[in-house]
Amino acid sequence: MMKKTFLTIATAAFAATTWAQTPQLRADNIDEVLQAMTLREKATLLVGELAANQNAQGTQIGNTERYIPGAAGNTYAIPRLGIPPTVMADGPAGLRIYTKRNYDSHTYYCTGFPIGTSLAAIWDADVVSKVTAAMGNEVLKYGVDVILAPGNNIHRNPLCGRNFEYFSEDPVLSGNIAAAYINGIQSNGVGTSLKHYAFNNQETRRLGTDARVSQRAAREIYLKPFEIAVKKSQPWTVMSSYNKVNGEYTNSRRDLLTDILRNEWGFQGIVVTDWGGFFDATKCIGSGNDLVQPGSPDFINQIIEAVESGKLSEKDVDTSVRRMLEYIVKTPRFNQYKFDSRPDLKAHAQLVREAAADGTVLLKNDGGVLPFKDVKNIALFGCGAYRLIAGGTGSGDVNKAYIVSLVEGLRNGGFQLDENVVSEYTEYLKKYDESMWKLEWWQRNPVAPEFIPEALVDAAGNNDVAVITFQRQSGEGRDRLAADFDLDADDRDLLVKVADAFHKAGKKVVVVLNVGGAIETASWKDIPDAILLPWQCGQEIGHSIADMLAGKTAPSGHLPMTFPIRLTDHASTANFPLDSPDIGGWGDNHTDRKNIDYTEYEEGIYVGYRWFDRQGMEVSYPFGYGLTYTTFAFDGLQLALQKGEKPADDVVEVTVNVKNIGSAAGKQTAQVYVKAPKGSIMDKPEQELKGFAKTRLLKPGESQLLTIRISAKDLASFNERKSAWVVDAGTYTFRVGDSSRNILCEGTLKMRKQQETISNSL
Ligand code: BGC
Repeated sequence: MMKKTFLTIATAAFAATTWAQTPQLRADNIDEVLQAMTLREKATLLVGELAANQNAQGTQIGNTERYIPGAAGNTYAIPRLGIPPTVMADGPAGLRIYTKRNYDSHTYYCTGFPIGTSLAAIWDADVVSKVTAAMGNEVLKYGVDVILAPGNNIHRNPLCGRNFEYFSEDPVLSGNIAAAYINGIQSNGVGTSLKHYAFNNQETRRLGTDARVSQRAAREIYLKPFEIAVKKSQPWTVMSSYNKVNGEYTNSRRDLLTDILRNEWGFQGIVVTDWGGFFDATKCIGSGNDLVQPGSPDFINQIIEAVESGKLSEKDVDTSVRRMLEYIVKTPRFNQYKFDSRPDLKAHAQLVREAAADGTVLLKNDGGVLPFKDVKNIALFGCGAYRLIAGGTGSGDVNKAYIVSLVEGLRNGGFQLDENVVSEYTEYLKKYDESMWKLEWWQRNPVAPEFIPEALVDAAGNNDVAVITFQRQSGEGRDRLAADFDLDADDRDLLVKVADAFHKAGKKVVVVLNVGGAIETASWKDIPDAILLPWQCGQEIGHSIADMLAGKTAPSGHLPMTFPIRLTDHASTANFPLDSPDIGGWGDNHTDRKNIDYTEYEEGIYVGYRWFDRQGMEVSYPFGYGLTYTTFAFDGLQLALQKGEKPADDVVEVTVNVKNIGSAAGKQTAQVYVKAPKGSIMDKPEQELKGFAKTRLLKPGESQLLTIRISAKDLASFNERKSAWVVDAGTYTFRVGDSSRNILCEGTLKMRKQQETISNSL
């Protein structure tokens, strides 16, 4: 009896000592926890917890069942040290998780928010943050720690399959919208993953293609949006891209992940690989890529072996593990947030419905046909109207509860639809769905049924207006085909015939473009009376369009990319995969196929409007363009130079008065383009966007003073020879307008010469 008691006490005492020696993770004992970790535990924390049913490369679109079904990936829990798992799920047009769970009658729908392009078209950081704050609330409420968004790659060419997820052809617009996006999400205490860092500008062979890019273009165009976003919003995580840049995988480049991202820009979070991309423990962790997703137990062993064989220093492992622990203590899961999976989906839908108008671009509005006056009966053409696209495909596709069609939107708005036309389309689409010849997701949507001329004459007689919807789908893993840029022959035919019948009857024709990026408009834009571009603005799209047509809201978006006349007008088209011959593509077994295994960014910094302006080339709609239901005047431009201690601290304050001089309420953007003096060594673009601001809703006659602050540093160009940002001394012209080709006032300022030396080059 005595003996037994003694033994029990001794065991308890031993357990208590072990427990006391095993620290439990807190925000203030990270070093202590790190010291208590075995090498295997450290390695485990740097590798995602692969779902049992996945293989080593995982699926590219993540789908773990553990913790939150349908999330993209998890990190391992280490209960011995009080380390919980964390959960990461896609983005960017809302949270992507499964809607149903086994033995659970509750549904887990998330709101389908506007795509990236549509958010960028808002040109207003506050509105974007308000929208993404709601998105972040769903991330929190559904128990996810990080949303894998935003996508911040430059639209180098209109055919990139994922442009719809990205923001713009311009780095300043992209970077500022990305920062606003991140700030909105992270205001909920959940994280983001700024992706895909960097040069992920094509989907063709995205897992191995090599982007060959000059130092200057890298810095000024492709890295700049990431630099702005990191500095203005400090995302919790950054996702390295699948591709290589100048011969090496981005996730293995210390210059990119450590020297530039962390040491120059001050990034403090973790870098995670893109899902199932290249991984080599020595190269990736040694360079500053902390976490590999979706992971594999093999990778844990690889890390351990690399350390034991001396190929990877344990110091580098510790650096990454410390960052992981710093990330984990911020997560809602660590902080035991009690999520209820019940976000206010109704309120978020309403927000999306309204925000769509802020990002919708009115391309044409002859004779003020929009908003509709005295319109009751509408003939609705184009298959798109009957099944609008709310967002693109792939990991950026949100599992939403519904998408409002234009039929539903207009009916709910009190309009009367031509039932003959409706039933023609309904029948046609039913047959299409039942047929075997359905198109693949990357191909265009079904073209319209043919209408005999008499049917169109009837429709024109019976209705007040015709609305024709054209649409394009695009998605992850494949670039758009060259033919996808142009209007189909059938669509054009429909437009010509409908316009002919309606115009003969004295009725107007409105085109709605349900697309994710630029398409050809020059050859047909003269035919309709109005063109509305709502993009793919989320699940309420049908309501949003109906609201704008009716004038309940006004479109106030501006183009975040140029609409060129021809695809080949873009300099980058000469070096872009035009027929997307290959999906994805692993490994290094091919390295010599132009535009597939490697792509020369020959156009350098001349991307988008920088190229068109330099060539003096006509475009269909310029970068920054957008009308609304009223007109504005800009006046009183003032430029004030606030001198800092060093020339690099100088700030230019641009103030302009924007007045609504029309007869409807509306919002306007002021875009500041800067023309630099002729460089001593470097060639300078004609002008570059350096800042922008948008008014609140102004009533007729109302004005608002907008102030845009531009740091002198931001006027610099990257001098490759010196590996330095340099602001040439001389006179800078600040050109303020409502598009890159409609400058309404300008002024000049003299700048001091300054140079910021950078030691890193790619
Ligand atoms: C995509 C990422 C995405 C990840 C997880 C990858 O295929 O490129 O954007 O976040 O999958 O689903």
